Amino acid sequence: MLNWDEFHEDDTSVAEAKPSYQPQQPTPAPTPQAAEEAPTAAHRGTNYQAVDADRLARARKSLEELDVAAGLEELEMGAARIEVDDKQMINARADLNQLVPFKYEWAWQKYLDGSANHWMPQEVNMNADIALWKSQDGLTEDERRIVMRSLGYFSTADSLVANNLVLALYRLITNPECRQYLLRQAFEEAIHTHAYQYCVESLGMDEGEVFNMYREVPSVAAKSAWSLKHTQSLARPDFNTGTPETDQELLRNLIAFYCVTEGIFFYCGFSQILSMGRRNKMTGVAEQFQYILRDESMHLNFGVDMINQIKIENPHLWTPEFQDEVTQMILEGTELEVAYARDSMPRGVLGMNAAIMEEYLHFICNRRLAQIGLKEQFPGAQNPFPWMSEIIDLRKEKNFFETRVTEYQVGGALSWD
Ligand SMILES: [Fe+2]
Ligand SMILES: [Fe+2]
Repeated sequence: MLNWDEFHEDDTSVAEAKPSYQPQQPTPAPTPQAAEEAPTAAHRGTNYQAVDADRLARARKSLEELDVAAGLEELEMGAARIEVDDKQMINARADLNQLVPFKYEWAWQKYLDGSANHWMPQEVNMNADIALWKSQDGLTEDERRIVMRSLGYFSTADSLVANNLVLALYRLITNPECRQYLLRQAFEEAIHTHAYQYCVESLGMDEGEVFNMYREVPSVAAKSAWSLKHTQSLARPDFNTGTPETDQELLRNLIAFYCVTEGIFFYCGFSQILSMGRRNKMTGVAEQFQYILRDESMHLNFGVDMINQIKIENPHLWTPEFQDEVTQMILEGTELEVAYARDSMPRGVLGMNAAIMEEYLHFICNRRLAQIGLKEQFPGAQNPFPWMSEIIDLRKEKNFFETRVTEYQVGGALSWD
């Protein structure tokens, strides 16, 4: 446990210590003589001094020449304070370094909700899974295939999502409260990749086989390639929004990642693994997936809110042709997921089969289309797995398997005594 006493041995010296550089009130340039005197021990009542007085003097001299306006580059010094109406999802001109005043309360609320749901993979007890995975007849071949396929797809998919967030999307979303959520989401994606790695390591799987599956197994590779394609144009350093064409390109990226990758590509694997957990098999892996699904449903809802807000602020982007194109993208994603379902379930397993999964995915496809105001493409498709909706609901079955070994403590490790 960290103890602040170790850092504050002498309260007096802490109280007196002041930063030598105060940007708001620049001090006059020190004379060469003063610069040499500054670091001496006697001067400040301390028993140490700078190892190189000349170097310290040069650092101070350099700060004298700091051009604050140039450092803050595009900011207008002395500009009026930010008004909420200046803020926009894309192409905003308001200062992006100022979080408040909030324009999109929903974005800030999701940041708070995401932070309140913090968890770590090591909190989940994997002992029963290890015993079951290593026993000869604990799982059928079809069940083992599902576990392998799921870890194979997800172990790299969350890296694709994180890379898209950080390398493509972040700089183009020009709203600080949304960026705050994107940073939270990026960390959650890192935790998800960690969770898959933790499962692979706990079960003693061949990590090369699992992590390379997105380049070796066609049904996994097709989904990953489809997502990656939508990162590429936005990740170019010269890409920028600001024209109808480039703004639509950004919307394509949001739909490809939030509605399709996180909103469709995750659902066959999630329902398979959670079905396994409901049958008391691989309950540790299932619990990891349950926490991840809870995070993912929030990512999806956040993405839907961003897409709809961009539509409200830029109605000219949402043309009939563009709506057709987006509908087609969501259908493509659904087809890829159906193909994945067939490949991962060549026969009936865990009370499921590829045909039942297909209807579930058509039901999910309808939901994704409706969430962004598009027409359902499979009217009448039913949800054959109502228990999935219950798991997604954050409050209903929070401790579904009730095997969590520790409660997560937020900021509980510092002692101020
Ligand atoms: Fe994730
Ligand atoms: Fe996600």
